Amino acid sequence: MVSIKAPRGVRDILPEESWKWAFVLKTASEVAQDFNYKEVHLPIFEQTELFARGVGSTTDVVEKEMYIFEDRGGRSLTLRPELSASMVRSYLENRMDQRPQPVKLWSAGPMFRYERPQKGRYRQFWQLDFEAIGSQDPYVDVEVIALSVELFKRLGMRGLDVVINSVGCPVCRPVHKEALQEFLESHLEELCPTCRSRYNRNPLRILDCKNPTCRTITENAPKTISYLCPECKEHFEGLKVGLDALGLHYSIDNRLVRGLDYYTKTAYEVLSGDLGAQNAVCGGGRYDNLAEAIGGKHTPGVGFAAGLERIVLTMEQQGCSFGKEPSLEVFVVAVGDFERKEALKLMQEFRREGISSDMDFNGKSFKGQMKLANQLGATYVCILGEEEIKAKKISIKDMKIGEQIEVPKEEAVTFVKKKLTE
Ligand code: HAM
Repeated sequence: MVSIKAPRGVRDILPEESWKWAFVLKTASEVAQDFNYKEVHLPIFEQTELFARGVGSTTDVVEKEMYIFEDRGGRSLTLRPELSASMVRSYLENRMDQRPQPVKLWSAGPMFRYERPQKGRYRQFWQLDFEAIGSQDPYVDVEVIALSVELFKRLGMRGLDVVINSVGCPVCRPVHKEALQEFLESHLEELCPTCRSRYNRNPLRILDCKNPTCRTITENAPKTISYLCPECKEHFEGLKVGLDALGLHYSIDNRLVRGLDYYTKTAYEVLSGDLGAQNAVCGGGRYDNLAEAIGGKHTPGVGFAAGLERIVLTMEQQGCSFGKEPSLEVFVVAVGDFERKEALKLMQEFRREGISSDMDFNGKSFKGQMKLANQLGATYVCILGEEEIKAKKISIKDMKIGEQIEVPKEEAVTFVKKKLTE
């Protein structure tokens, strides 16, 4: 045991789990292709200012959760807590406004937030992030929601709820904010300390507080959708029309305001009952003013991000299939210098045919190698013994039924290949 452990809130994804991740990532890439989203790889750290201005200074993420560090040149950098701000930064910096709009991008990778770790909540976690930048059409919002639902459907996930809301825009939000503050004023003392501190800075977030007293107080609080300006109202109607056209089931949640400041109009989440307190498998929405907030020209956008760990957790809980677990197809047993050299060559032949193969690299005896083949779960064992080499043959043992036959050396690969497809 080493005394240095991984930092709190981060996990090692070991082989027993990583193949499941690979399945989800492959499925995400197929769905992305079908919806015409192109993959990008963006930096893991950015200038701190990008998130401070993009995500918003009154958000939990920026106030308390960012991993900020100074590099040797004295620059303030931050490990990305999310991807939308980076996506928009990249869109602006690479003049993607010159491309056909909207530009549809996706990316997968680790995010970093200094949060209290619990089931489904880590300090380093992966997101699958999809963004459509450069259109205000509500049908793009519909497409984004449909994409997330399609991804979860292809992964075999069940019992998911799509909840939507509209959080308005800088025109209608101040009117709602005032009404909300007025409504909450007489209850200020009863609110939890966090909500009390949000009353002036960001009262909207009081609506999604999980504290039972706060929830009771806000039961009849003014709803954002009752205050939408004509443009936001029309957009929200368009969103519903599109979702209905696709037969996509959803409910409106007036408390859904999301934790990041950049949202305008659409906010949505997909929830799983199998996740416990951290029940959002994905979250997203529209961010028409994000580009301007980070110093670019006005560029509407919409997207979502799904937590990879939460997807895998839900799938495991629901007994979903991750496809076939990769297994070792051939283990080559060889004792002695000459035999081991032959084994190397044979493995090369198998591998070139796409058949996974392995051998012992620790000088084990014949018996030890057979045991190792068993431990590694090999489907077939090819034995290259002294006898076999003399006779230019190879003994092939089917590990499942225990049957062993001899085949001419040059036919071994074809034989195993045929057996594997039977
Ligand atoms: P978010 O709701 O902060 O949104 O995160 C999106 C998803 O990432 C969550 O629904 C959850 O599945 C996962 N997630 C968040 N924090 C953690 C954590 N600490 N541990 C494990 N999983 C976590 C965003 O990040 C927005 N950028 C989404 C978006 C894209 N909006 C528009 N475009």
